[in-house]
Amino acid sequence: MSARKTSHKPARRGKQPAKSANTMWGGRFAAGPAAIMTEINASIRFDKRLFRQDIAGSLAHCRMLVQQGLISAADGKAIAGGLQTILREIEAGKLKENPALEDIHMHVEARLKELIGEPAGRLHTARSRNDQVATDFRLWVRDAIDRIDAGLKELQDKLLTRAEEYAATVMPGFTHLQAAQPVTFGHHLLAYVEMFGRDRSRLKDCRARMNESPLGAAALAGTSLPIDRAVTAKALGFAAPMANSLDAVSDRDYALEFLSAAAICAVHLSRLAEEIVIWTSAQFRFVSLSDAFTTGSSIMPQKRNPDAAELVRGKVGRIIGDLNALLITMKGLPMTYGKDMQEDKEPTFDAVDSLELCIAAMAGMIADLKANAERMHEAAGEGYTTATDLADWCVRKLNMPFRNAHHVAGRIVRLAEQQNKPLEALSLAEMRSVEPRISRDIFAVLGVDNSVKSRVSYGGTAPANVRKQIARWRKRIAREAR
Ligand code: ARG
Repeated sequence: MSARKTSHKPARRGKQPAKSANTMWGGRFAAGPAAIMTEINASIRFDKRLFRQDIAGSLAHCRMLVQQGLISAADGKAIAGGLQTILREIEAGKLKENPALEDIHMHVEARLKELIGEPAGRLHTARSRNDQVATDFRLWVRDAIDRIDAGLKELQDKLLTRAEEYAATVMPGFTHLQAAQPVTFGHHLLAYVEMFGRDRSRLKDCRARMNESPLGAAALAGTSLPIDRAVTAKALGFAAPMANSLDAVSDRDYALEFLSAAAICAVHLSRLAEEIVIWTSAQFRFVSLSDAFTTGSSIMPQKRNPDAAELVRGKVGRIIGDLNALLITMKGLPMTYGKDMQEDKEPTFDAVDSLELCIAAMAGMIADLKANAERMHEAAGEGYTTATDLADWCVRKLNMPFRNAHHVAGRIVRLAEQQNKPLEALSLAEMRSVEPRISRDIFAVLGVDNSVKSRVSYGGTAPANVRKQIARWRKRIAREAR
């Protein structure tokens, strides 16, 4: 969010009203608003980001008005031409911001009046800023969802490429951040492909549910004029008009749902970011990032800090804050539109900006990172991570109940621990001192490579599974892109 630049002399605050009333709605007002009223009321500073959606909505509305005989074809043509000019002007950075004109909707209309004169006043027939802003903002959020989905797809593609490369690269899998069982790095990366897949599916659900048009609900009660809401809905790519005019102008579920999905996605990104921070530390050395994604320290020459990962981890805070902000704004609001709802935009814009940045930075880091396979392999065997393989061997070969097998494995781990050596360094005789039926082929499961190879159950970490899952995801992503 950009800092507010306006400053007020205290003496002026709330004292001097503007000389004249607002030309759009000032009919029954004798005097203009206090300066501070203008300042708190104006949203142009941020809602100018809606200009494309606002103009698209107005063009669709204008066409429908002509079609329904509510305005003449000539006026419709003048309005549409004017709106196209305004679109080009704003795209060229020529929007003249005027807080007295409050928001983007009135800026566009005022400029239209300057450009085409009297017909401009007919555009607002059977429409209110209440259904207008609800329409614009839905369109904006819908576009943002499409961009974020594309970003997540790209991130998944990058993860899949790296997962393939590291399909058989063994690393420790953790629970409680304690080495638990060996897994493959490819399998670990695929866990995130699953998470981002759910994020995309949440966004898709949210998009489908929000894709109804509020336009034509007017201020709150609909209109007595013979409009056709189905026509504007279709023109704007909505599946249908919203069925209840009160709900249409007061609903912000779409932004809340989007922010919820965004917050969950940001949580996923923060977890991956945290792992990158851990993996790149001198204590772990599982992964390194190039100069492109690290920074140095001004005082400690040896340092290589994973700032991008830390920022992705950090930005989750503001995205969750954005969700909270809007939930709290909406809580307890009576039907229908309340100016409180103008507060929907800044948190949503902030969440979208932050999330898009995080997704792109993460995609960059995933493409950039290099795994230190040797170090990962070494760490995978530390901490008796194949003890479960030993127990599973007893279940498989000796038909032992798992609880007993767990006990046997535990005693063998203790033996190894006492002698300060890894499991596979124990002699057969030593293992037989715990369970006499153990045979030489147990050594095959004690190494980390054999351990991961044996994890072939559906969803397990075996390299063969990882390769199958990569193929499945590639097919799914291609199918969904169609
Ligand atoms: N700028 C307003 C918003 O973002 C537009 C709607 C204002 N409607 C009204 N009747 N004041 O919510």
